[in-house]
Amino acid sequence: SNTNIANTAEKDPLIIAHRGASGHEPEHTIEAYKLAQKMKSDYIEIDLHMSKDGQLVAIHDYALHRTTNGTGYVKNKTVKQLQTLDAGSWFSSKGKGAYIPTLDEIFATFGNDIRYYIETKSPHEYPGMEKKLMALLDKYTINKQQLIIQSFSDESLRTFHHLEPSIMLIQLVSYRQGLLTSHQLKNIHRYADGIGSSSKTLTKSYIKMVQSYGLDIHAYTVNDTKEMKKLIQWGVNGIFTNYPDRLYKVVHPY
Ligand code: G3P
Ligand code: CA
Repeated sequence: SNTNIANTAEKDPLIIAHRGASGHEPEHTIEAYKLAQKMKSDYIEIDLHMSKDGQLVAIHDYALHRTTNGTGYVKNKTVKQLQTLDAGSWFSSKGKGAYIPTLDEIFATFGNDIRYYIETKSPHEYPGMEKKLMALLDKYTINKQQLIIQSFSDESLRTFHHLEPSIMLIQLVSYRQGLLTSHQLKNIHRYADGIGSSSKTLTKSYIKMVQSYGLDIHAYTVNDTKEMKKLIQWGVNGIFTNYPDRLYKVVHPY
């Protein structure tokens, strides 16, 4: 939908810290984001859900049990309830004290010192989440030219495209969907700037094909150095990784 990204593999691939530096710190905690920033990531990836009282919060799953000591669903808890949960101990003993951050708090903490790569999760469950995100961007004057928004939901991305056509949008593609056809890629190009694909589905020729339709391609989630090197050689425009330090070394070897 815009032209703020040069679609060329000659540029270094973006280092996208998946859920923060989540290989080192519990995912989606301020600690994980701070470490990702320290490791010189280009973007911090944030998955969003919404609390019962309508606040956007950073957590990957719809349910609480994997990454917190809570049970049930994010959408049935108030922010106050969510923030009493321990979001760090499941990961390691030093994760104690980590909690689920609100997006408001993340923007208040980092402002424009980092770049955000934000995913709307289950947007059909949270009507209005796109408008809430836009309002927070305005509240903290987050630079929209430095922001990327991603979703598996084309509807959510189309909503952003209408609200603010200059924001870079990435259509996520599930492993299950496999490789897209030229028809599908052309259709995505009407509202988005690129696709985010499972690295497991990618081939060199497919990457070239996607780019030939004017779309960037970002690969998720790559933690192995050899795989990073291969994908970069194939020309991907960005890589999501739980280990931004590893990817940084691959991209900047000297
Ligand atoms: O957003 C890219 C990648 O994170 C998509 O998968 O399930 O980790 O959000 P998931
Ligand atoms: Ca994600």
